[in-house]
Amino acid sequence: MSRWSSGAETDVSVAENYQRYLEPVLFAPWAHRLVAYAGVRPGDTVLDLAAGTGAVSRVAARAGASVIAGDSSAPMLEPVPAGIRTLVCPADALDLPDGSVDIVLCQQGLQFVADPLAALREALRVLRPGGVVAVSVWATDERLDPFDAFAEALQRDATAAGSSRTISNAAVATTVHGVVDQLLVAGAADVRATRQELAVRWPTVDSEVAALFGTPFGPFLERLPSARQEDVLDDVRRQLDHDGRTVAHVTTSVLGRGVKRVE
Ligand SMILES: C[S@@+](CC[C@H](N)C(=O)[O-])C[C@H]1O[C@@H](n2cnc3c(N)ncnc32)[C@H](O)[C@@H]1O
Repeated sequence: MSRWSSGAETDVSVAENYQRYLEPVLFAPWAHRLVAYAGVRPGDTVLDLAAGTGAVSRVAARAGASVIAGDSSAPMLEPVPAGIRTLVCPADALDLPDGSVDIVLCQQGLQFVADPLAALREALRVLRPGGVVAVSVWATDERLDPFDAFAEALQRDATAAGSSRTISNAAVATTVHGVVDQLLVAGAADVRATRQELAVRWPTVDSEVAALFGTPFGPFLERLPSARQEDVLDDVRRQLDHDGRTVAHVTTSVLGRGVKRVE
């Protein structure tokens, strides 16, 4: 999923499909969890780091916070509603003053940043002492559908087509102890990690399959000849078409507190 990684521009179609298929089913429900976990209160200034289309920003704004949605990709930030300030900038070079926010939230974004430690140092720089930083990630040792199904179908297609290309979903997940370590090294206090489960309900299997177009694999799939594209989508559908569309989804949130900076 290279295009969610640092430094690359996201296709407009990825942002549109992300917001259409992935945000309502996965990222918005998880956003409620993260906002509650971090204890966002009315009047807080919240930075949503790697905000994407603004799932977390919207929930924090509804909780009465004043929100800044930051992301390195301008197309991803396009759907963020007026009233939420947007900031197009990389997570490791935030255009914000020291100690200017009460809470930094980062939902499924840190694993795509090239230098996560630098990003966490920046998060702690802009956080006021005593403020909260809360980062949610998918852990490498948990099954992650539909993304694992997408990568497996694309890998089978590449193998069948005789390509030596390896398609892996590894980049979307990270180790929880890695995030905990980085947050400690960056200087956070009271660091703790919590594993959470959420029952995710896809309206139809087709909407879950279509979510592939909201990932950085989307533009690649669109460029395949139509018969191959259909084969890949059928493969994904076979993998995901189990009884009922409610699937347990797992995420881990890591929380730390800002401390007074010693110059
Ligand atoms: C899976 S999306 C998550 C978006 C959002 N947090 C959500 O919950 O829907 C990952 C996001 O990380 C952003 N991203 C990747 N590298 C980044 C960086 N170095 N700085 C800021 N954002 C970055 C991508 O543009 C993308 O919007």
